[in-house]
Amino acid sequence: MTTITLNKTQTIPPHGGVLINREVKGKEKEDLLAKAENLPSLQLTAWSISDLELIGIGGFSPLTGFMGKTDYERVVKEMRLANNLVWSIPITLPVTQEEADTLEIGQEIALKGEDNVIYGLLKLEEKYSYDKELEAKNVYGTTENAHPGVKKLYEKGDIYLAGAIQLLNRPDHGQFVEFYKDPSETRQMFMDIGWKTVVGFQTRNPVHRAHEYIQKSALEIVDGLLLNPLVGETKSDDISAEIRMESYQVILKNYYPEDRSRLVIYPAAMRYAGPREAVLHALVRKNYGCTHFIVGRDHAGVGDYYGTYEAQEMFDNFTHDEIGIMILKFEHAFFCKKCGNMGTAKTCPHGKEEHVHLSGTKVREMLRNGQKPPAEFSRPEVAEVLIKGMKDSAE
Ligand code: ADX
Repeated sequence: MTTITLNKTQTIPPHGGVLINREVKGKEKEDLLAKAENLPSLQLTAWSISDLELIGIGGFSPLTGFMGKTDYERVVKEMRLANNLVWSIPITLPVTQEEADTLEIGQEIALKGEDNVIYGLLKLEEKYSYDKELEAKNVYGTTENAHPGVKKLYEKGDIYLAGAIQLLNRPDHGQFVEFYKDPSETRQMFMDIGWKTVVGFQTRNPVHRAHEYIQKSALEIVDGLLLNPLVGETKSDDISAEIRMESYQVILKNYYPEDRSRLVIYPAAMRYAGPREAVLHALVRKNYGCTHFIVGRDHAGVGDYYGTYEAQEMFDNFTHDEIGIMILKFEHAFFCKKCGNMGTAKTCPHGKEEHVHLSGTKVREMLRNGQKPPAEFSRPEVAEVLIKGMKDSAE
């Protein structure tokens, strides 16, 4: 296996070799915003705006816009872009047939958010219809409407618009702004701190002891940890990003060496596409400059749609060089009462009866009732933040 070590002035190559930057700033931005006032416009969902942002800032490098039909179909069927680069999730701009009918190929279109702010421009290159069932089956592994990603897909407009974008305004990340960095900034940050190897950690949950264990196991072999929680759209019963962000700060402060960890938000929407989303998550973290990426149990999974290690096995479809970031695979981790510490089946010889197991549903129920989960499951400082946050948001 190839290992990745960088010298002081190097960063890991982004996916496709070039870190994309489609953001327009200064006078040019002002001119384009003025021009955009008179262009046909579309109102995009928060999900599409977050895709626009991630394309614009290079998180989705090598994409320079919303996918055209050739890329889209190859991604759905073969997990590759038309140029053969690995890409596992379609990044598309859905609109209704009525909206599409008002637009002409070659036009520039102002892309507005639900708040009517113009976030970007699209140079319309293509409009195409697509097979929702095929996308559901291939990308999410199911056509069931009960799957949150599939449900979203079925609610989308029937036409995808494609073309290069320009990002004119980044969405306002409000209270998270101090934890916002674009991929060029995280890359610079790693160089400034002197981290040659960095492990990226994706999560949509508070950091529990199992997360902490696998992060710290990784930290034993790399220079730094990028805790990179997804703060875009999630399903309604996931703990909100506001509460989670507070809990991340508390756990980092109390349990992680300050010079070995950084918290930066990942402003994307959660697809719950399990194995395919794990690949996207890895490629994006490579773009942010991570050299390693953690994939644990049921990464990006939901319900029983994916096998425990399906996300890890997905990477077997590609060579290491095609992915370009080292995937650190961890087995299901737990606290073992007999061992008196965290472990996995690889390191603990005891039976399930010795292991502390709590389902996400059970934990949320405990927190809602103001009850702290056991210290073997969650750090007490984290539990406190979650209990308080859930109480405040229920009021
Ligand atoms: S995810 O949907 O963003 O993947 P989650 O926060 O559940 O959400 O998981 C973050 C990462 O930790 C994923 O790589 C996941 O596989 C891993 N993970 C979560 N719980 C465990 C566990 N008990 N043991 C090992 N890995 C885990």
